[in-house]
Amino acid sequence: MRKMMKTETTCLVVLLILAKGSIVVDAFNGELVDLGCPDECECHYFRVNWVTDCSESNLTDIPYSELSPSVYILDLNGNYLTDVPPFPPDIKMRRLQLANNLLTHVRKESFQGLNYLIDADFANNRIATIDPSTFQTMSGFISLELQDNPLTSVDGEFLYSSTLLYLDISNCGLNFLNPRFFANVTSLCTLDLSDNPLGMISPNEFNPLKSLEILKMNNCNVSFIGEDAFAALDNLKSFELAGNNLAEISWSYVLYPLIRLEYLDFRRSGIRVIQPDAFDNNTYLRTLILAENELRDLDVAATVGQKLSHLDSLDLSHCHLGRPLSEDAFVNSSKIRTLYLAGNTLFASDLLLALAPLTKLQKLSLSQCGLSVLPHTLHQFQSLTELDISHNPLNDVFVKILAPLQALEYLNMGNSNLTHIMPSTFSKMTSMRRLILSGNDLNSLEAGLFANLTHLKSLELNSCGLRKPLNATVFFNNLTYTDLTELQLAGNPLKVSRTGPLLPKQLSQLRTLDLSNCNLTYLPMDAFYWTTGITHLILKGNQFTSRDFKFLNLLPQLETVDLRYNNLTTFSPKYLIMASGKLNKVQLIGNPWICDCDIVDTWDWSKMMGLQLATSPEEHIIAGKVKNKHLLTCNHYDGQKTWSKYVKDSGCERRSSHFRSARSLIEPKISTNILYLGGVLFLVTIYVMLGTKLK
Ligand SMILES: *[C@@H]1O[C@H](CO)[C@@H](O)[C@H](O)[C@H]1NC(C)=O
Ligand SMILES: *[C@@H]1O[C@H](CO)[C@@H](O)[C@H](O)[C@H]1NC(C)=O
Ligand SMILES: *[C@@H]1O[C@H](CO)[C@@H](O)[C@H](O)[C@H]1NC(C)=O
Ligand SMILES: *[C@@H]1O[C@H](CO)[C@@H](O)[C@H](O)[C@H]1NC(C)=O
Ligand SMILES: *[C@@H]1O[C@H](CO)[C@@H](O)[C@H](O)[C@H]1NC(C)=O
Ligand SMILES: *[C@@H]1O[C@H](CO)[C@@H](O)[C@H](O)[C@H]1NC(C)=O
Ligand SMILES: *[C@@H]1O[C@H](CO)[C@@H](O)[C@H](O)[C@H]1NC(C)=O
Ligand SMILES: *[C@@H]1O[C@H](CO)[C@@H](O)[C@H](O)[C@H]1NC(C)=O
Ligand SMILES: *[C@@H]1O[C@H](CO)[C@@H](O)[C@H](O)[C@H]1NC(C)=O
Ligand SMILES: *[C@@H]1O[C@H](CO)[C@@H](O)[C@H](O)[C@H]1NC(C)=O
Ligand SMILES: *[C@@H]1O[C@H](CO)[C@@H](O)[C@H](O)[C@H]1NC(C)=O
Repeated sequence: MRKMMKTETTCLVVLLILAKGSIVVDAFNGELVDLGCPDECECHYFRVNWVTDCSESNLTDIPYSELSPSVYILDLNGNYLTDVPPFPPDIKMRRLQLANNLLTHVRKESFQGLNYLIDADFANNRIATIDPSTFQTMSGFISLELQDNPLTSVDGEFLYSSTLLYLDISNCGLNFLNPRFFANVTSLCTLDLSDNPLGMISPNEFNPLKSLEILKMNNCNVSFIGEDAFAALDNLKSFELAGNNLAEISWSYVLYPLIRLEYLDFRRSGIRVIQPDAFDNNTYLRTLILAENELRDLDVAATVGQKLSHLDSLDLSHCHLGRPLSEDAFVNSSKIRTLYLAGNTLFASDLLLALAPLTKLQKLSLSQCGLSVLPHTLHQFQSLTELDISHNPLNDVFVKILAPLQALEYLNMGNSNLTHIMPSTFSKMTSMRRLILSGNDLNSLEAGLFANLTHLKSLELNSCGLRKPLNATVFFNNLTYTDLTELQLAGNPLKVSRTGPLLPKQLSQLRTLDLSNCNLTYLPMDAFYWTTGITHLILKGNQFTSRDFKFLNLLPQLETVDLRYNNLTTFSPKYLIMASGKLNKVQLIGNPWICDCDIVDTWDWSKMMGLQLATSPEEHIIAGKVKNKHLLTCNHYDGQKTWSKYVKDSGCERRSSHFRSARSLIEPKISTNILYLGGVLFLVTIYVMLGTKLK
């Protein structure tokens, strides 16, 4: 008991230091005098500690001569240092940051003077070797970061430090540890070994680490774990072994000694077998992640649910569970608050019984479970705040089972074969923040459907077969939904009338609107009459032609517009002058551009405004499209002539001065006010115009 208490406090210290980025020292009331500071660096006090920040300063040498002997924190991250000559003796430095340099070795001589060092960061250098005694005499040394270095494997001890608590040697190309590797870092509390191709874990390697509480070995290609490999780790609380290759391991041997384990992550580790007694000794487990393994034969009840009575979170997503969930699946793990079962074939009748003990459930995912009905006891889970039942072939009538779930903040019912949603379904869900109904063939939405969702932030109605955008009647008549800032209506074959606002007044706080792939050929000039605060407008994949972008004039807050894959042959900057204050991206690729002098205007204007017109190439490579599609090309030339080439060759009169008014309007200070004033006047005019029209 005593011992456990001790390690807990030491680990806490590490966390504090790492999180706060500084070491707190006793209060100090005297005057602070400025100390030495190298020319290239920026120095300041943090509390009473002298910080010398020389990061990203293109240094090839450390400016020793200008360094104050009282420097407390020295930040040399992101320079071009290849070597560290010995520091002056008796320097009182506590923290040394040398990440992102070009060091190849960590030599003892370099750091010999630094007897007070607490923490050193050598991440992302080219370090191959480390003198194991480098930190030996530093009696307060607790944290060492070496991740992302090409370390060569060692035969004996990796380091001598009886005080080290935190060691990160992830992604260091280590393919072999040895039984003495950790022999002289026995205080270690947190160890990150992830992303090293270790392949196998031999017995004894971890034996010296009796204080270890956190061990990360994700993506280590581990396929074999020696018997009793972790026999000494009885203080381990958190163990990550995700992304390995652990098809058949005798888990009992591996896990029995870990009697204090609270967090275990086995995600995507090719596990096929977990013996029913695997977790027998891990009675304090609170989080268990088994997702994305091949657990066809897992007996959830015998292995997990009858044993782990402290379990808080269980992730069994995409485990190909083959056995039905039994009545006692979670019988003794009734404290579970988070349960992910997505991607397993399940039956409502089994769930009904299996979930019954989980009265504290807050997050539940039953996505892609092949459910045609929902367990009709779902209403019992009064604490449920997140529910995902998407991608199930659900039957309409079972949706009403959701109605009593008053605490829901997130509900995903996307792609669930729903054709109709009763208007009372959401009427009690006043805490809802994000509602996803995409991918259901709803055709229309009933009056009052969203009325009570007064805290809604994001509403997703993509591909719902809607022909009309949201009708005001789905909301309360005179209420502004002040949190509702995102609306997705992509993939609905919208029919838009020639005049009148597209969206109702209740959505006046809308910021992001997605209308991609909506079969739109135009939007009326007053489309955004009620929603002038839109900042991100997505009109991708419609059939807009070059005329009639007047509706953009109502959007002075616009930051990005996506017009990709429309039917644009030319585009005039005049439509965006109103928005030019904040605009930073207008996406235009994938249109049949006819390059003419208007294109030259748009090009010049975008350069002048610092606007981005195309997207980065990566996006298209990922989408499997031809690489140079990201370039703006002129459609009527053989071969692909790009806009930029056209602009160079065109000989058009450069008329950017024509739009310079727009530019000068957005110059900071005085001129932004002018723009603002101009914008307001313009808006007022339009409002008055529309107002009379609407009446
Ligand atoms: C470092 O060098 C780069 C390229 O030579 C330069 O752009 C940058 O401004 C320099 N940084 C400092 C702090 O001198
Ligand atoms: C390493 O640890 C062993 C005990 O495990 C001890 O005898 C030895 O002196 C230590 N070596 C150094 C260099 O600290
Ligand atoms: C992973 O381990 C397998 C043997 O289990 C080996 O064939 C393979 O080369 C290893 N992969 C890497 C990246 O080390
Ligand atoms: C299970 O834990 C107990 C201590 O709680 C220990 O005595 C026992 O040896 C462990 N079982 C195995 C098989 O290691
Ligand atoms: C599991 O719960 C049942 C009753 O729900 C109880 O009888 C049994 O002792 C519990 N098993 C364990 C291992 O706690
Ligand atoms: C979707 O629901 C309809 C009834 O609304 C039903 O006829 C159809 O079989 C369902 N589809 C699937 C895949 O279950
Ligand atoms: C909306 O919520 C209020 C208060 O929770 C409730 O009284 C009212 O009946 C609800 N409205 C509808 C249409 O269900
Ligand atoms: C909105 O729906 C109501 C009936 O619910 C209908 O009378 C009205 O015409 C609709 N408005 C629009 C703009 O579609
Ligand atoms: C909203 O309209 C209802 C009637 O539809 C009315 O009772 C209520 O007072 C109105 N609320 C506000 C804030 O105007
Ligand atoms: C798209 O709009 C055109 C008219 O602009 C119409 O003929 C066509 O049916 C619409 N497509 C869909 C899927 O509604
Ligand atoms: C694209 O625009 C041209 C005119 O610029 C028009 O002739 C053609 O029908 C449009 N195509 C579609 C699919 O709307």
